[in-house]
Amino acid sequence: MKTAMKNNVTVVNHPLCEHNLSVIRDKNINSDGFKNSMKRLATILVLEATKELPLKTYKITTPITECDVNKLSDEYKIIFAPILRAGLAISDVASEIIPDASVQHVGMYRDETTLEPVWYYDKTPVRYDNPEHIKVFILDPMLATGNSAHAAVSLFLKKGILIENLVFISILSAPNGIELLTRDFPDLKIITAKIDEGLNSRGYIIPGLGDAGDRLFNTFEK
Ligand code: URA
Repeated sequence: MKTAMKNNVTVVNHPLCEHNLSVIRDKNINSDGFKNSMKRLATILVLEATKELPLKTYKITTPITECDVNKLSDEYKIIFAPILRAGLAISDVASEIIPDASVQHVGMYRDETTLEPVWYYDKTPVRYDNPEHIKVFILDPMLATGNSAHAAVSLFLKKGILIENLVFISILSAPNGIELLTRDFPDLKIITAKIDEGLNSRGYIIPGLGDAGDRLFNTFEK
C-alpha cells in the first residue's frame, strides 16, 4: 500500500480506497451500498492506523514444536472513540479487528449556524488510570471544519492521554480540518483516504459525499 505522508498526515493511496470512494461519493448509491463501501474503507484505514501497535513475544507450543509468537502488548489499553453518529461506521469494523478494544462513544452535533460542535454525549470515564498506557483512535469519517475533531482531541488530552498515543481516522478530509488539527496538534497522527478541495458555506466537504450520518442511517427528509 503506497501512502503519501506530510508531517503526521497519512493519505492512504490504495486502489480499493479509490474504488470505494467512487461508490460512496455517488448520490445514486443506496444506503446499503454506501454502508458497505464505508466499512471497506474503514477496514483499510484501521489497518494502516494500527500498524505500529506494540507487540509482546511469548512462547507457545504448536502441534509440531515450541515457537515464539507475537501478540498485542497488554501494556497498552486500546480505545476506539467514534464521534456519533457517523463514526459508528468505523468503530463497527475497528472492534471486529481488535475485539478487546474499548469503544467509548462521544457525541457532538454541529450547530448549523456557527458550525461549532455541541456536546450531547461523552462515554469516557471521569479519569483514566495510567493514561500514558492508553492508545486512542478517534473515528469520524468526515474531517470537515475540524471543530468536532478538535473538541474530541482536546477531551482526551485533558484526561491525560499523550498526543503520541492519539490517532485521528477520517475517510474524507477537507484542507480546513487538516490545517486546524495540524496547527494546534502538530504531533497528532491523522490517517485519511483523501483530502478534498474544501468546504461549502454550510460546512460540507466539496465534492465530498453529503451528510455521512444521513446516508448511513437513511435519515434524509423526503
Ligand atoms: N459531515 C458530513 O457528514 N459531511 C460533510 O461533508 C461534512 C461534515
